[in-house]
Amino acid sequence: MRSIVKGKLFTSKGILDGSILIEDGRITRVARDIQEQVDRVLDYRKKGHIVLPGLVDMHVHMRDFELSYKEDFYTGTGAAAMGGFTVVADMPNTKPKVNKLAVLRERERVAKSKALVDYGLYYGVPDREDDIVDGIEALAIGFKVFMQHEFYTDKRELTEKVLEFASWKKMLVVAHAENPKFFVKTQMGTAGTPEAEASAIKDITGLASSYGFQPHVTHLSSAAGAREFLKWKKQARITADTCPYYLLLSDDDARLQGAIAKVHPPLKSSADAEFLLKKLKDGGIDAISSDHAPHSLEEKANLESALPGFPGLETTLPILLTMVNKGLLGIEDIARACATNPSKNLGLNMIGAIEEGKIGNLTIVDLHRRAKIDPKTFVSKAKYSPFEGREVEGMAVATIVRGQPVMLDGEVVTQGGWGENVKTYG
Ligand code: DOR
Ligand code: ZN
Repeated sequence: MRSIVKGKLFTSKGILDGSILIEDGRITRVARDIQEQVDRVLDYRKKGHIVLPGLVDMHVHMRDFELSYKEDFYTGTGAAAMGGFTVVADMPNTKPKVNKLAVLRERERVAKSKALVDYGLYYGVPDREDDIVDGIEALAIGFKVFMQHEFYTDKRELTEKVLEFASWKKMLVVAHAENPKFFVKTQMGTAGTPEAEASAIKDITGLASSYGFQPHVTHLSSAAGAREFLKWKKQARITADTCPYYLLLSDDDARLQGAIAKVHPPLKSSADAEFLLKKLKDGGIDAISSDHAPHSLEEKANLESALPGFPGLETTLPILLTMVNKGLLGIEDIARACATNPSKNLGLNMIGAIEEGKIGNLTIVDLHRRAKIDPKTFVSKAKYSPFEGREVEGMAVATIVRGQPVMLDGEVVTQGGWGENVKTYG
């Protein structure tokens, strides 16, 4: 299969009018103009659309298995394709949990049979040491450590075994960093504070320097947490992401919206949001993730017992592009935080840039298409959002995975099963 994509290409030399030749899933040429007989030409030059390296989301919950009523790999990766994401990395807090090799293999089988875009799989902290075994690294891109449940509890020893194993195997460790010692009771149930985040970041980075694994702090939510992270970043290889809602929403929105906006870590103050945006812009914070965390509407009904999280794959890019249009971010910030850096963090140096030899994952963006966030139109099974009703300007108009268009003009155009584990990238 050979195809050509033309448009305003986001390259290391800036945004240039150009053409990309993709052959059998790989970018084989990038030039001002390519005239060749190919199977398909997607020409966005007249429309002025921007071609970004394929977006990568390091933190999503595809659910599936026994939680398929919330989301499954088909709808979850469909939501990813609609939102411009070419790769999503799936968290292991499923039912059953992905913390046994047999379950990881089953996860791979189910994901492979349904996924529309490419995916990575995380492995969770197991219940028995016997489940930390050779073979995990063949299918999983890293480990997820949910510190409040797995580090500040009697599972700590086992968690440290995982960290040791990750160090040997040179695997990424993604930490949900909150120390329950600093939790407080709120109307929304028990919730983390900025101190909870800062304290856990200190602990996980301290361990990283003694064991040697590669730590990544996910969903930074507070200035205190970000400051602690940035302190360690000066002396060690450590990365972090934050989410669009930590940049734009605050605890005031949480109070207004109630259970829908309930999320862990909880939304903090607008001063926290401002600090996170500043640090995202100056590159201190490496990446943006959606933490796409779908639940059924019934599970979001009651404030105190509501499950935390909400879908994010179909709102993340429109929200970020709207920030570009408002001058709060540059398009280069989005390419860096949603494509280049998450690819690097996951150890995938064959994606994340538009260059010859890279895999042909591309996200085409219309920076000026306007819409109102309408959860009823989500492909995700979770049809609600704390951003409901927001006017947005900018969205993905095509999502291309290994040369294959998966979404074109707001329609999924590929069969489930096209997606592959990023471990096959080689
Ligand atoms: O808001 C959240 N939702 N935070 C978490 O840590 C878990 C996640 C989920 O799985 O729903
Ligand atoms: Zn999550």
